[in-house]
Amino acid sequence: MKSDVILGLQWGDEGKGKIVDYLAAKYDVVARFQGGPNAGHTLEFDNIKHVLHQVPSGVFRNNTKNVIGNGVVLDPVIFRKEIEALKNYNIEPFYNLYISKRAQLILPTHRLLDAAYEKSKGDSKIGSTLRGIGPTYQDKTARIGLRVGDIISEDFKKKYEILKSKHLNILEHHEIEYDLPSLEEDFFSALEYIKKFKLVDTDYLINQSLAARESVLAEGAQGSMLDIDFGSYPYVTSSNTTCAGVCTGLGLAPSKIGQVFGIFKAYCTRVGEGPFPTELKDEVGEKIRKEGNEFGATTGRPRRCGWIDLPALKYAIMINGVTQLSMMKVDVLDTFDEINACTHYKLKNGTITDTLPFDLCVEDISPVYKSFKGWNTDITKLNDYKSLPTELIEYTLFLEEELKVPINIISVGPNRTQTIFKNNHFQ
Ligand code: GDP
Ligand code: IMO
Ligand code: MG
Repeated sequence: MKSDVILGLQWGDEGKGKIVDYLAAKYDVVARFQGGPNAGHTLEFDNIKHVLHQVPSGVFRNNTKNVIGNGVVLDPVIFRKEIEALKNYNIEPFYNLYISKRAQLILPTHRLLDAAYEKSKGDSKIGSTLRGIGPTYQDKTARIGLRVGDIISEDFKKKYEILKSKHLNILEHHEIEYDLPSLEEDFFSALEYIKKFKLVDTDYLINQSLAARESVLAEGAQGSMLDIDFGSYPYVTSSNTTCAGVCTGLGLAPSKIGQVFGIFKAYCTRVGEGPFPTELKDEVGEKIRKEGNEFGATTGRPRRCGWIDLPALKYAIMINGVTQLSMMKVDVLDTFDEINACTHYKLKNGTITDTLPFDLCVEDISPVYKSFKGWNTDITKLNDYKSLPTELIEYTLFLEEELKVPINIISVGPNRTQTIFKNNHFQ
């Protein structure tokens, strides 16, 4: 067996959580491979709306094993809160959740460093979620990080103190206020809590699952345009959000990757700073934000909104090897008379291109749009591809033609049930 992958193709928040939750019923294992509590994945069903940050989105399916892989950075304090919030839902996280011993730990001082670095950047701040993601991955690559498996070792406290003092030395040069003893109290009590979970070698677990012909779904966080190597650097997150991250973040060989489901919105959003060629800073952007309720699931920040960006999407499809697409939040465009799709970028020197320039940040890009007539129909109660309005089908066919990958899922609302399949692979 091979592992399928779900990942976001834009700047995050594409609706990955909804699709993972939907498809999880068909998988034996759902595994997060990168990121951490910067993610906010929203699931809606049976009048429940739930936002998950570190726990995989298969957790509501009792027969699915949920794995937090080695590529994840884990904040024990946020993890405990998440698990406690799940207690009311009659699920068994102690039984079906597995945490990699190799996952890196987010320390309280990592969060403080994140805040300090952001503050010191002034106007060029990244707009980080302030969850300590960047500093934790920094320590991982500097080979000084602490891992989940370390918490059971006798000298953990000593290792912790060594890393903490390195962090405090840096923090001395920054003006931020903090109450470390209280943060540490929460941290150490959360570590005790984590010890009750299955702390395992998830690399073996996943490979053995595949060998036993169990189906595995890798759940991406963030989006391809936030990838540390391929995103709009430096306005990115600190992990490989793309398909390659599945191999390093779970211990899977490239030959073990199966279907790659690319998730994108029928338009585009971004939260935090950084370039966004198709951003609409006018009333149209405002209308998308309102109709799409575009506010961050983790930080509550308003998301920046704009039209779909096909050069960026094509790039993301290329680097991920996407085999199927899911178009999300199509209903948000239900009341627009005109819908635009950016097909090319016009650069300052007059060049028209559909490839991404080296540095999206310095290029002065004007999007070239193709315009579509809106469908002006409420599609939220439709459940069959053939019943979709003609204008929407035309938009979909145009995107498939441009992107060269089939759009098999069309999402017409946040609820699990508001999901239309074009080709019924899964039903
Ligand atoms: P993720 O980070 O990719 O999992 O996405 P988020 O959960 O951060 O943001 C997606 C938001 O859109 C959530 O509030 C979802 O409930 C919502 N959503 C997902 N699919 C649809 C859809 O098709 N239509 C509408 N209106 N909302 C959707
Ligand atoms: P999900 O999984 C949208 C953005 C932040 C910031 C940049 C770096 O819900 O799609 P970080 O805290 O990672 O150092 O922030 O990345 N960002 C996200 N934007 N969705 C996310 O996750 C994000 N995770 C990080 O806003 O611009
Ligand atoms: Mg999100």
